[in-house]
Amino acid sequence: MADLREGDFCSCNPLELFEQVTAQGEKVRSLKAEKAPKDEIEAAVKLLLSLKLSYKTATGQEYKAGSPPTDFAPVSNGPGDAGDEDLVDPWTVQTSNAKGVDYDKLIVRFGSSKIDNDLINRIERVTGHKPHHFLRRGIFFSHRDMNQILDAYENKKPFYLYTGRGPSSEAIHVGHLIPFIFTKWLQDVFNVPLVIQLTDDEKYLWKDLTVEKAYQYTIENVKDLIALGFDVNKTFIFSDLDYLGTSPEFYKNILRVQKHVTFNQVKGIFGFTDSDCIGKISFPAIQAAPSFCTSFPQIFNDKKDIQCLIPCAIDQDPYFRMTRDVAPRIGYPKPALMHSVFFPALQGAQTKMSASDPNSSIFLTDTPKQIKTKINKHAFSGGKDTVEEHRKYGGNCDVDVSYMYLTFFLEDDEKLDQIKQAYTSGALLTGELKKLLIETLQPVIAAHQQRRKQLTSEMVKEFMTPRKLAFDY
Ligand code: TRP
Repeated sequence: MADLREGDFCSCNPLELFEQVTAQGEKVRSLKAEKAPKDEIEAAVKLLLSLKLSYKTATGQEYKAGSPPTDFAPVSNGPGDAGDEDLVDPWTVQTSNAKGVDYDKLIVRFGSSKIDNDLINRIERVTGHKPHHFLRRGIFFSHRDMNQILDAYENKKPFYLYTGRGPSSEAIHVGHLIPFIFTKWLQDVFNVPLVIQLTDDEKYLWKDLTVEKAYQYTIENVKDLIALGFDVNKTFIFSDLDYLGTSPEFYKNILRVQKHVTFNQVKGIFGFTDSDCIGKISFPAIQAAPSFCTSFPQIFNDKKDIQCLIPCAIDQDPYFRMTRDVAPRIGYPKPALMHSVFFPALQGAQTKMSASDPNSSIFLTDTPKQIKTKINKHAFSGGKDTVEEHRKYGGNCDVDVSYMYLTFFLEDDEKLDQIKQAYTSGALLTGELKKLLIETLQPVIAAHQQRRKQLTSEMVKEFMTPRKLAFDY
């Protein structure tokens, strides 16, 4: 999941943004002139609209062709100034709505499919397991080609899971765990291999970090992942800084992707500019390559066609749109995807979580007391100002962050429903709701810390050693 740090938001200066909008406008015009396929034009128009929105947010002015920005209003997150389009890419998540990003709109814009009840029921039928509460509650809400994965599974054809994390700091918060908790569930119910990529190279390129520091973060982050309970016989965790140099097959796939994506395409997908370093421009190929099973010959032997399923937060989708576009051209199946929503910051669903702001989320290193204080002090409340008003009108769960956090961490549907009703009716007060969240999170975090403490460096090494897993191909 992208780290939504304060500095990432509108880190482009207005002039750069202006140039990006202009370049994208030209691209749309030439696509139209060439009579390019409709979906290609639509994708380019969508990107143009989000760039225009960023421009407006950064400058306070509408984009006007031919008039570069002169003086501009300071960046503000206030309601209304970001238009009604949400902005979502690997580096920015931006919305003016207190309920958070409009995910149904995002499905249409990204051209993915909704995880609807039919699909959830099918997953239940095929696996014989009750669907995870992340599925039942729409936390994993969108997918690409999930029915293909289920067809394959029903026909006893193998698939594998791939997910990853950019180790930008040692501070992991509960939101970072969402894709991994879900991936573990998928691995358990489908009994398939899992590869986890730690993109320390990516973080070196994007952040102010040394290569050594990035690798150190990898190791610390890997411990948190292992503590979630992945099975060492079925899971390979790798650092790009390690694995790339030892695996010719992985590198060959990176190269194949690099040959089939142009600079123009990555500019269009990721908004790179002429002043981005060349490392960034070629990096998407490195995140794409684990989607192909031949990148892991030690696991998949000489098989070439084992399909990959990628659970990830929706902000990572641009990488995999690119991957799916390239895959058939280099002779591989397209990876399937399952997308999750974003985890809200304590301050509210439209603000960004920041690993550098300890009050923006609950971190895996927090003590029970810190958890309590943070929630009581900082969790945005959908309650009313006074007890009298609250009793009379009730609270609003749609914007209440404590309630939102409970949807992620309280597994019991019935209890959650009771809480919602009581809060909405005014019977449950904000302080009481917060207490329920505190009591839910404290044991989860404490148990995580306990498991992490017991890990040895040998165990970390075992997970990170390229090897055959408990599957024969
Ligand atoms: N780029 C991702 C991040 O910054 C890390 C990542 C690499 C990833 N491969 C992935 C995330 C596959 C999801 C799925 O966090």
